[in-house]
Amino acid sequence: VTAPNIPANPIIRELPDELISQIAAGEVVERPASVVRELLDNALDAGAKNITLRLMAGGVRAIIVQDDGSGIAREQLPLALKRHATSKIASLHDLEQVGTMGFRGEALAAIASVAECSVLSRVQGDASAWLLDARSGEISPAARAVGTTVEVKELFFATPARRKFLKTDATELSHCLEVLRRHALARPEVGFAVWHEGKLLEQWHASSLKQRVADVLGDEFVALSLAVAHSEGAVQVSGFVGVPDAARARADQQYAYMNGRFVRDKVMQHAVRSAYEDVLHGGKQPVYVLYVSMPPERVDVNVHPTKIEVRFRDGREVHQALRHAVARQLDAPRSHMPVAPQHSNLEVKTPDAAGLITQFAIDLVANESHQAAAQAAFNTAEQSSAQPYRPPAPAGYEVREISQLWSKPTAAQAVQADQQEPSVWPLGRAVAQLHGVYILAQNTQGLIIVDMHAAHERIVYERLKTQLDGARLASQPLLIPATFAATPIEIATAEAHEATLQQLGLEVSAFSAKTLAVRAVPTTLAQGSPTELARSVLAQLAQHGDSADAGSQVIERAQHDILASMACHGAVRANRSLSLEEMNALLRDMEATPRSDQCNHGRPTWRQVSMKELDALFLRGR
Ligand SMILES: Nc1ncnc2c1ncn2[C@@H]1O[C@H](COP(=O)(O)OP(=O)(O)OP(=O)(O)O)[C@@H](O)[C@H]1O
Ligand SMILES: [Mg+2]
Repeated sequence: VTAPNIPANPIIRELPDELISQIAAGEVVERPASVVRELLDNALDAGAKNITLRLMAGGVRAIIVQDDGSGIAREQLPLALKRHATSKIASLHDLEQVGTMGFRGEALAAIASVAECSVLSRVQGDASAWLLDARSGEISPAARAVGTTVEVKELFFATPARRKFLKTDATELSHCLEVLRRHALARPEVGFAVWHEGKLLEQWHASSLKQRVADVLGDEFVALSLAVAHSEGAVQVSGFVGVPDAARARADQQYAYMNGRFVRDKVMQHAVRSAYEDVLHGGKQPVYVLYVSMPPERVDVNVHPTKIEVRFRDGREVHQALRHAVARQLDAPRSHMPVAPQHSNLEVKTPDAAGLITQFAIDLVANESHQAAAQAAFNTAEQSSAQPYRPPAPAGYEVREISQLWSKPTAAQAVQADQQEPSVWPLGRAVAQLHGVYILAQNTQGLIIVDMHAAHERIVYERLKTQLDGARLASQPLLIPATFAATPIEIATAEAHEATLQQLGLEVSAFSAKTLAVRAVPTTLAQGSPTELARSVLAQLAQHGDSADAGSQVIERAQHDILASMACHGAVRANRSLSLEEMNALLRDMEATPRSDQCNHGRPTWRQVSMKELDALFLRGR
């Protein structure tokens, strides 16, 4: 390590203005997209109804933003480029109430210090427009309608070191477009157009929020999302959240706004993520466009030079409102959703019979052996050689009495079943079971296909969770304790976590030096194998809890994992035949269970195939 080069007698000097601006620019202007962001902010603050963005070479060579906002008067033009000059706030009080995107009076000065910059503007009532050249400071008359055009050319031309940090034009362009999307989603009532190298890339007309979201993120995004509208205390939340099926591998469709400003905020991100916790696993990223608004004095926007971060006076207030807003939508059973193309495979845009049949077959089955069998079954040429469909061997232990696995329909439900038209049930009336794996039901729109294990698993899981919220799982003693040969780790875990096990409705204790006995099991899971259940819970506890932990903490941390594996043991296995009565009971349970659209692993539990899609299969009506 070499010592820093410190002169013997350091002299403190004031920096020249130009250098101050360049230093400040380092915080604000990182790449072309930062310039785009600042210029769009300014246009919106000026009340523009239409904004056009023109880029050359990904914005590195030129960024031009044209708006039809209020404009800047001639004598004000030089001020616009001066540091710490702004029309947006005048006092500390204004700063605390700020409602504009900008307020620091720095952006244009910073940009002008690292690029060639000019401002052309005209206000209402002026006979002409005026052009200010930032470098020379000259102002000359020019032609333009009311509004402003800011031109920024050759970014970082004087600071080659910084120019080197820029990526390819294509990358810079994509960053610029992302900034544009953020602004366009914030203000659907403003029209946006973007040109690159003279080619029109996007044009979004002023519209409703829903239409804007569809324009910017695609129709698919809207089709697979739920509208949010929620108010809690001082916080309002609106927007759209994607169904779990729409989740992506990357967090690239997550738009969160605080009082109209796009922000990246840990509290908000965490709140949304936690609402998805139970329906999304495996590192999948939810998609959303969410607008949070609250009184400006409760949120500080002046904590980051680019204003992308905010600080809340009360983070919990925002977290809760946001989490509730999203969870409320996700928790509502969506069986009433019209033919939601939950999976693109089943989405039939242009009915193509052959493709559809294959997709349908593929979709009907869960693993490769299914796939092969089903495809063969659909393939007329190979029909004779088609192997009979064989469901997968039940993993884990055997379930004894299927009818006892879930509550039989009560007398009242049975009466209802007789009186009600099937049309009132979103998931319809069961008509058959397919190879012990799927339930087929008929509803008003057509065919419903339910993965019975996945669906039942979710129902059992939700039931366990509700019970655990009320302190502990209801437990039922076994007439004859079930014993099993246990490993030393299992025995130690059973001892260390006795209280936790009890909370989970399990009583497991040593029977001999090498044997454990299960003496009680959760009532909800009474029909499963007690020893398999005990084993899997012990494995979870061993994994999650070190002995120093109090039991309840282990549960809190590992609740999802533990209950999910318990539910898996309690849920009906494939290859079980069910009576129509049992199938209908399951469908009704699903309708009443929150989050029943996904199994505990985030896979869908049911699909709708509409009559239209079925008709397309058979080329009816053509
Ligand atoms: N497109 C525009 N239309 C009308 N006025 C504008 C426009 N762009 C800039 N101005 C004026 O120039 C001033 C300076 O703009 P600048 O972006 O540098 O600062 P700011 O927007 O006030 O604050 P911030 O640095 O936070 O963006 C603004 O306060 C505004 O009065
Ligand atoms: Mg600004």
